[in-house]
Amino acid sequence: LARGSAGRDLAGRHVVVSAGGTREAIDPVRFIGNRSSGLQGYALARTAAARGARVTLVSANVALPGPAGAETVAVGSAEQMREAVLAAAGSADAVVMAAAVADFRPADYRGSKIKKAEGAEPGPIRLVKNPDILAELGRNRRPGQVVVGFAAETDDVLANGRAKLARKGSDLLVVNEVGENLTFGRPDNAAVVLGADGSRTEVPRGAKEALAEVVWDLVAARLERTSS
Ligand code: CTP
Ligand code: CA
Repeated sequence: LARGSAGRDLAGRHVVVSAGGTREAIDPVRFIGNRSSGLQGYALARTAAARGARVTLVSANVALPGPAGAETVAVGSAEQMREAVLAAAGSADAVVMAAAVADFRPADYRGSKIKKAEGAEPGPIRLVKNPDILAELGRNRRPGQVVVGFAAETDDVLANGRAKLARKGSDLLVVNEVGENLTFGRPDNAAVVLGADGSRTEVPRGAKEALAEVVWDLVAARLERTSS
């Protein structure tokens, strides 16, 4: 399937994209977060809009201008992201979870700022698991809805990717090959996209837009299959 050749092949479709990284509050001024920039999710939102889709972008802590043609919903924590994504997913043809969702959050939110105590070391921060949004989407999908996850793996990329794809019940999993000469924080990305149907699509290192186009190619093909 040639990238971009399909033109406005997502016209009449509603897609939901999550982007950025969630922050889990410790107290009113502190949080546990991650380094996700939101670039890949924003590229997905931009390219989907260019292909004619109605786009809901659920964005967590991203310092980028909202992409033209997308309705952007700002969230902070994983629980807020879950609520916004599930609400939008109710009418969506496809959901792409590009966000880095914190796996854990502090068990007890402290309503006032934690102060240093004279002569005492601080206590530990107890963590609890956050809900797995992608797994929930996989379990509760509308008929024909396409669910896409992202994963970064360092070892046994394909085996771990396949296992994660099955565990999450997704249709597609975009696995970033993270390794010695493949670094974080770059504008480009190399990936392999695994399909629940056993397919495997290698995406050579290139702009995040190019990876986004491949993802929408694969999503569009699946939407076509189920609606025809
Ligand atoms: N994800 C999610 N909700 C979470 C954690 C992850 O929806 N609480 C989604 C991410 O947005 C991503 C996919 O699940 O699309 C894979 O995330 P990843 O961190 O690779 O997988 P985990 O299941 O959290 O496994 P682990 O971090 O232990 O490898
Ligand atoms: Ca995780």
